[in-house]
Amino acid sequence: MKLDFTGKTAVIFGASRGIGEAIATEIARAGAIVYLAARSEKSGLGVKEKLETEGLRAEACVADVSKYEDVDAVLCRAIRETGRLDIVVNNAGIVCLSSFLDATQEEIHDLININLMGANNGCQAAIKHMIELEISGKIVNTASFAGRHALQAGFSHYGMTKAGVIYLTQAAAYAGAPYNINVNAVCPGIIRSKMWETILDSYVDNGLDRETSWKDSLKTFIPLARGDQKAEDIAYTVAFLCSEYADHITGQSINVDGGAAMN
Ligand SMILES: NC(=O)c1ccc[n+]([C@@H]2O[C@H](COP(=O)([O-])OP(=O)(O)OC[C@H]3O[C@@H](n4cnc5c(N)ncnc54)[C@H](O)[C@@H]3O)[C@@H](O)[C@H]2O)c1
Repeated sequence: MKLDFTGKTAVIFGASRGIGEAIATEIARAGAIVYLAARSEKSGLGVKEKLETEGLRAEACVADVSKYEDVDAVLCRAIRETGRLDIVVNNAGIVCLSSFLDATQEEIHDLININLMGANNGCQAAIKHMIELEISGKIVNTASFAGRHALQAGFSHYGMTKAGVIYLTQAAAYAGAPYNINVNAVCPGIIRSKMWETILDSYVDNGLDRETSWKDSLKTFIPLARGDQKAEDIAYTVAFLCSEYADHITGQSINVDGGAAMN
């Protein structure tokens, strides 16, 4: 099985680092031109330079995914410059560790606006463009194992938004299905990205040791004993879901989490 995205246009939201950067890299290596949407021009440009050093094709764009007009502007630019829109990955996300009772309205609204509305905006806008272009495209959302079942340890409203992304993936899959547009999601386990470093910061603030907390988190959440999961492990599944090999897969949320969730 060899992935070949030659001649295809991909847009990755939340591509400035971590899982998004790994997804963009994998898709670009398979031959697509990738539009790297990040909150600031500078962060997108960093990844663009890395990809170009490998001889890959990338463009940096700015978007706050919570704003439909920002998301749509990135898709319109990609279409204007390449005439196509084949792959859209809605990966942007934030975490908040406040407990269910302590979380403020602002924290909850931010989580909903970025994690859930961000993915919604990407799905709605992408499906409309793909229908207009008559392209049977592929859309992948980044959910989480935390969206599969509630976790005790401070991921309450984060998990709530990711459960929403899993539902959204099914609803969007129905909308895209008559046009052969596939919509799926990936549910990562725990990956030591900037997001997890922020979580570890909070453990350190509570007097815990950083590395011990990381090992304990792996033990608590991940049954598989392989050790750290890498951002690339998520990117491989996303790239597969964006390929012709996944033509008959839609509405699915695939756990890539070392067994953290088995539903
Ligand atoms: N790291 C993990 O263990 C883990 C586990 C499950 C799910 N996830 C999900 O994977 C995705 C990527 O996370 P990551 O671990 O790489 O974290 P990260 O913090 O390194 O990356 C998050 C990305 O989203 C972008 N982003 C945040 N708010 C945005 C906004 N309003 N508009 C545009 N971009 C925005 C950031 O700039 C960054 O590029 C997120 O959706 C996250 O919830 C991560």
